[in-house]
Amino acid sequence: MLNPNVVAVIDFGGQYTHLIARRVRELGVHSEIFSWESKPKDFQEHNVHAVIFSGGPNSVYDKGAPKLSKETMEFLDKENMPILGLCYGHQFISQFYGGKVVPGNQKEYGHTMIDISNKDHLFKGFDDENKVWMSHGDKVSQLPDGFKITASSESCEIAAFENLDKKLFGLQFHPEVVHTENGNKLLANFLFDICHLEKNWSMESYIEEQVVEMRKIVGENNVIIGVSGGVDSTVSAILLHKSIGDRLYCVFVDHGFMRKNEPEEVVKFFKDDLKFKNFYKIDAQKEFLDAVKGVEDPEEKRKIVGRMFIETFESFEKELEKKFGKFGFLAQGTIYPDRIESAEPSETAAKIKSHHNVALPEKMSMKVVEPLKELYKDEVRDVGRLLDIPSKLIDRHPFPGPGLSVRILGELTQEKLDTLKECDFIFIDEIRKRNEYKDYWQSFVVLLPVKSVGVMGDSRTYEWTAVIRSVNSVDAMTADWSRIPYDTLAAISNRIVNSVKRVNRVVYDITSKPPATIEWE
Ligand code: XMP
Repeated sequence: MLNPNVVAVIDFGGQYTHLIARRVRELGVHSEIFSWESKPKDFQEHNVHAVIFSGGPNSVYDKGAPKLSKETMEFLDKENMPILGLCYGHQFISQFYGGKVVPGNQKEYGHTMIDISNKDHLFKGFDDENKVWMSHGDKVSQLPDGFKITASSESCEIAAFENLDKKLFGLQFHPEVVHTENGNKLLANFLFDICHLEKNWSMESYIEEQVVEMRKIVGENNVIIGVSGGVDSTVSAILLHKSIGDRLYCVFVDHGFMRKNEPEEVVKFFKDDLKFKNFYKIDAQKEFLDAVKGVEDPEEKRKIVGRMFIETFESFEKELEKKFGKFGFLAQGTIYPDRIESAEPSETAAKIKSHHNVALPEKMSMKVVEPLKELYKDEVRDVGRLLDIPSKLIDRHPFPGPGLSVRILGELTQEKLDTLKECDFIFIDEIRKRNEYKDYWQSFVVLLPVKSVGVMGDSRTYEWTAVIRSVNSVDAMTADWSRIPYDTLAAISNRIVNSVKRVNRVVYDITSKPPATIEWE
C-alpha cells in the first residue's frame, strides 16, 4: 500500500541530505530521498505530499549544477506542492522564480543569530532571535516577485523567505543539524502546520517492513552475515534472524585489528549471550597484516581491508555451501553515514573516505543485503532496544570495521598494533573506572608513529606519540570533541607513558567534525 503522505527530499549533493529525511521520520512522517533528475511521474507514483530541497556543494551558476528540470518545477508549481528549500535549495527556488543569487563576500560557516520578522507560519512559536547553523558561500540578494523575507542575519538579509500562495519556503541555514536551535520545530511547522501531514511512521514499522523485505530479497537461500561484535552488525544479525531464522550464518573475521581482548568477547557474546546456533570465527590476522604491509595511504588501506573481508567471506561461503546448500547473499551492518562518506548515494556528493563495507570490489559472487542502510547510529540503537538487545552492547562506542588499521597512521606493523592496543585499553579502562564512558559518544586512541624526545628516569627516550580522541555526537555526521576532565586526562597520560614501552608522549585532539573527521584516516 502506498504511504498516505510521503515527503520527498531532493538530493542536491549536500552532506546533510539524508539527515533531513531522518529528521522528518523522527517527526513521524515517511520520507524518501529523490534524485534531482526526478520526473513528475516519480512524485505521482510515490504519492508525494511535500518536498524539501537539500543543500549542496555547488553554486546555482555552476555549469552542470544539479537542478530539477523546468518540466518538474512546473509540475510541482501546478500541483501547488509545498516546498521547503534549504541552503542551495533556497537559492535554487529563488533563482528559478526570477530572483538573484550572488557570491557572498566571504563564506559564512558556523553559528549565526537570525532576527525573525514573520512568525505566522514556518517560525510559529519562535522567539524574535534564534541561533542557526549556516554553511554557505553564495546567498540570495534579491527575491522574486511575490516572495517575502521572514528572517535575516547580520551578513545575510534573506536568511529565510516565504511565498504563501505558491507554498514556497526557503532557509539559508540548516534546520536539520543539531546546532540549529529549534530546527525540529521549524520542520514540524512545515510538515504539520503548512503541509497538514499525518504522523504515521515509527521505528516499529521500520522493523516490520525490513523483516518482510529481507525475506522477499533472499528467498529460500542461506545468508552469511559479517559480524564484528559492534552495534550495527549485531542489530542487523538479530533483525535478519527474526526474518529468516537459522538460515542466517554469522561469521566473525578476526583481522587482528580488534582491540585488546575483543575477539574473545565477541565469541562469548554470540555463543553464550545470544545463543546463535550458526556462529563461526575465522582467524585471518596474518593474511590481513600481510595484505596491508608497506601501505601508507589511508584510502588504499581501507580498500585493501574491504577487499580482504569480501575474499574471506567468499571463500568461507564455498565451504559452508558444501555442507548446508545454497547461499549467495552477504549481509552487512552498513548504516547511512558509512554510505554518505563513501559518496555512494549521490554523484554530486564529495567522497570523504571509503568505509570498508561500502567500497566493495566490482566483481562479487554474493549479493549484498543491508537492512540498516537507511538508518543513523542512534536509530540503529533504537532498533536494537526494540529487539531487546542488551544495553551493554547497544551503548558501546562505535568501532570502525577496519578497526585499529585506520588508527595507526602510515604503515602497520605488529609492534604498532600491540602498542596501540595497550594505549586504547588504558584509555577506555580509565574512563570506565570513573563512570565517564557513557558521557562520550566515541573514545579511542590514535597512534602517531612520529617520534619525539622525552626523559624517563635519567635517560633520554625517543618514542612514538599517542593521541587521545573522544567526541560527542548524535549521528556521526557532526561531532564535537569531548570535554574530558583534566584529572582524567592526567591519569590516562600518566598510565600510558609509564606502562606502554614505545610511547613517551600523549596529546589530546580538540578538533570537531567538521572540519576534521572523527577517525584520523
Ligand atoms: P568519520 O571518521 O568518518 O567516522 O568521521 C564516522 C563514524 O564512522 C566510523 N567509521 C567506520 N565504520 N567502517 C565502519 O563500520 C568504516 O570503514 C568506518 N570508517 C569510519 C567511525 O568510527 C565513526 O564512528
